[in-house]
Amino acid sequence: MAVRIDVITLFPEFMHECVKFGVVGRAVQRGLLEVRAWNPRDDATDAHRSVDDRTYGGGPGMVMMIEPLRSTLRKVRQATPEPARTIYLSPQGTRLTQDKVRQLANAPRLILLCGRYEGVDERLLEHEVDEELSIGDYVLSGGELAAAVLVDAIGRLQEGALNDAQSAQQDSFSDGLLDCPHYTRPEQHELGAVPAVLMSGDHAAIRRWRLKQALGRTWLRRPELLEDSSLDDEAKKLLQEFQRDFRDHP
Ligand code: ADE
Repeated sequence: MAVRIDVITLFPEFMHECVKFGVVGRAVQRGLLEVRAWNPRDDATDAHRSVDDRTYGGGPGMVMMIEPLRSTLRKVRQATPEPARTIYLSPQGTRLTQDKVRQLANAPRLILLCGRYEGVDERLLEHEVDEELSIGDYVLSGGELAAAVLVDAIGRLQEGALNDAQSAQQDSFSDGLLDCPHYTRPEQHELGAVPAVLMSGDHAAIRRWRLKQALGRTWLRRPELLEDSSLDDEAKKLLQEFQRDFRDHP
């Protein structure tokens, strides 16, 4: 099933450019992902094509007005019959996770609203937006980069976008853990040798080594992820081994 994503943005060319490359570019070419960008400036009604105005209560910065955003939303919703979930990208949103991406990747249609300036009039968000998402605890100058992140993460999960070797099952986070290290030729290099087990041809040993590294890295770098995951007996044992190795050779 393909997904269509409509992005409402003052910079439509940016969104179009973002979906031309790599895995996501191929998903678009294969018809698995369709991205359309709409400029609310086209729905402004004054001679200056204004989309923003001064903030009530005073202070610096401008706020995006209810109209013309609402006219653009109406136009976007009328463009196809399927209902669309409308998402506003902002630092005030719920944090985006791979679980959330997986959930959104199953929707047939999404509308992403990108704010600029100080943001969007709260009344439009209350009445026209289903969900507010943040890509992290930092502030971007607009929602476009966040929308591009979301489009990429959703696009690559569409069936047929990745080949077998890139399978989404091998992704970091697919099992709640960070990814293990990867190596390619040459086997010997002045920067070091490839871990011998990866050259052994022993698939069971390689699988165990990779799981152990993934567990160990998660423990070292993002320990909070382990609190959310329930490790089976094998994983617990491998993590203990990693912790022991780490204590002996930090
Ligand atoms: N817009 C500005 N900053 C953002 C962030 N961190 N996440 C999502 N949208 C944003």
